[in-house]
Amino acid sequence: MQSIMISHLEKWKKKGKKFAALTAYDFTFAKLFFNEGIKVLLVGDSLGMTIQGHNSTLPVTIDDIAYHTAAVYRGAPNALIISDLPFMTYSTPKMSFKNAAKLMRIGANVVKLESNPWVIETISMLSERSVPVCGHIGLTPQSVNILSGYKLQGSNEKHANLLLKNAKAIESAGAKLLVLEYVPSKLAKVITDTLNIPVIGIGAGNYTDGQILVMHDILGITDGYIPKFAKNFLSETGNIRSAVRQYISEVESGIYPDSEY
Ligand code: KIV
Repeated sequence: MQSIMISHLEKWKKKGKKFAALTAYDFTFAKLFFNEGIKVLLVGDSLGMTIQGHNSTLPVTIDDIAYHTAAVYRGAPNALIISDLPFMTYSTPKMSFKNAAKLMRIGANVVKLESNPWVIETISMLSERSVPVCGHIGLTPQSVNILSGYKLQGSNEKHANLLLKNAKAIESAGAKLLVLEYVPSKLAKVITDTLNIPVIGIGAGNYTDGQILVMHDILGITDGYIPKFAKNFLSETGNIRSAVRQYISEVESGIYPDSEY
């Protein structure tokens, strides 16, 4: 089986072929998701909430992400594996090099950083050193204490323009992918159409090139805060493999997310 590369996502964007991605944190789910057709897996710092039971992503360490990246890689070595750099693990370029290298040595193909404007220089330095970077803007959960909760971002013109400007700067700095979280679909369309790199949305409407969801959300097993855009595919289909296939099919055909989500 051929490994999935960033160039595949770039081709899909050019052709207008939408793709579905999921978070994965362990061997069994990574393998199942890949075998059912999910080609892009994210070892997200959402594991702080879904796996570790914290009330935010802030306690997650680089060793936690490394542990779960290794397990996901064993389950789906041919997937495109994106691993998160957690809170305060990329606050200086030196730290970001060391931590990105740690994740890439054990199976990550891409590292994702929540990309406020101060991170642009780091994205550029990592990219120059052959580390593929995925930016992440909109709702950036590591900034939950500044954002005062998990709220829609970019809903007024001034903030929408700032996000668009930041998205362009992320691409110019060399990032290969961008995650756009919880922004109005109109803004997601502008950003997706403006950038050449593939844009993966979550809670950003169905115009983005790809969609990503937290695996616990598609299975309806999330406890506590459930985002408005999360859809439980297991309740419709009755088993995990069919739920994953249904998610893929609805993303590829543009059915999910509809206006309800
Ligand atoms: O950590 C994560 O799972 C994420 C997704 C919500 C995009 O960053």
